[in-house]
Amino acid sequence: MVFPKQVRLVEMSPRDGLQNEPGDVIATEVKTGLIERLADCGLTHIEAASFVSPKWVPQMADAAEVMASIKRKAGVRYSALTPNIKGLERALAAGANEVAVFGAASESFTQKNINCSIAESLKRFMPVIEHARQHGVSVRGYVSTVMGCPYEGDIAPEKVATVAKTLYDMGCYEISLGDTIGVGTPLKAKRMLEAVTKDIPVEHLAAHFHDTYGQALANLYAVMEEGLAVIDASVAGLGGCPYAKGASGNVATEDVVYLLNGLGIESGIDLNKLVATGHWICQQLKRHNGSKTGLALRGRGCL
Ligand code: HMG
Ligand code: MG
Repeated sequence: MVFPKQVRLVEMSPRDGLQNEPGDVIATEVKTGLIERLADCGLTHIEAASFVSPKWVPQMADAAEVMASIKRKAGVRYSALTPNIKGLERALAAGANEVAVFGAASESFTQKNINCSIAESLKRFMPVIEHARQHGVSVRGYVSTVMGCPYEGDIAPEKVATVAKTLYDMGCYEISLGDTIGVGTPLKAKRMLEAVTKDIPVEHLAAHFHDTYGQALANLYAVMEEGLAVIDASVAGLGGCPYAKGASGNVATEDVVYLLNGLGIESGIDLNKLVATGHWICQQLKRHNGSKTGLALRGRGCL
């Protein structure tokens, strides 16, 4: 067992958390309010927006306004999704500190999500990665459906490893492994990681686990045992993917911090402030808080 001493959390709620929120388009001020509160909790990497087609994802149509109106905190990276050159140009103009391309290990999911094949997606990402790096902006790479696909079912770990290695070789500094529909279990997570780490050092990998089946914390524990030390999470467990029907949000950031605290792993996050932020955003969105830690601490009158 080689748990990391420290874990870096990448906060997903402003992007993954809000992209699929039903109902009216969320006000830009609510998005920026959330981002500023998250930075105040000690989060140093926040995925703030997504420069995708507004026709595909209307909740992210104001990405440029969000980026422009955040009061930025020193030492915090504000990143954004960029599926193509058009997205990259918009993100660079808006001052994104980092961008991310997003592919998948499943053909059907890639087609539904970004309207092309895996091979075409990788070809499309090449100039995005090159151009971003020429501008001194680092690029993260996502691989979705790493433990199962809503259209194809099981996904072989080798397929995940192939897409992850291609993105890494193309210049992505970190590959985030997405259990998009939250179907993974700990042994599956370990086997998937084992396949990916044949080609990519674990220091360059992140876990992006959705919590549909309540397995995300167990899966995180399993991959941390293998030395993985970057975790994507979303305050109050907000979110879901518009092209993965029925998938619930990312694992709740509050729950991850509680787990890390219990294991003596540093994250630099103020849990009380984080719980307050989770309650604040749930009130704004009039939705249920998906963090058990959030509910427990609030219930005990800790805040
Ligand atoms: P397409 O229709 O094939 O693209 O969509 P196109 O190049 O033919 O363009 C069609 C129209 O979109 C054109 O406008 C373009 O200008 C416009 P029109 O001429 O019709 O008026 N367009 C854009 N507008 C603004 N920004 C852009 C952009 N690109 C084209 N960047 C495309 C291809 C990739 C654009 C589309 O499929 C898309 O936007 N998909 C977004 C999907 C998405 O955001 N999914 C959720 C994020 S991924 C996720 O959640 C998974 C993750 O969390 C990990 C995990 O959990 O596994 C990361
Ligand atoms: Mg996701």
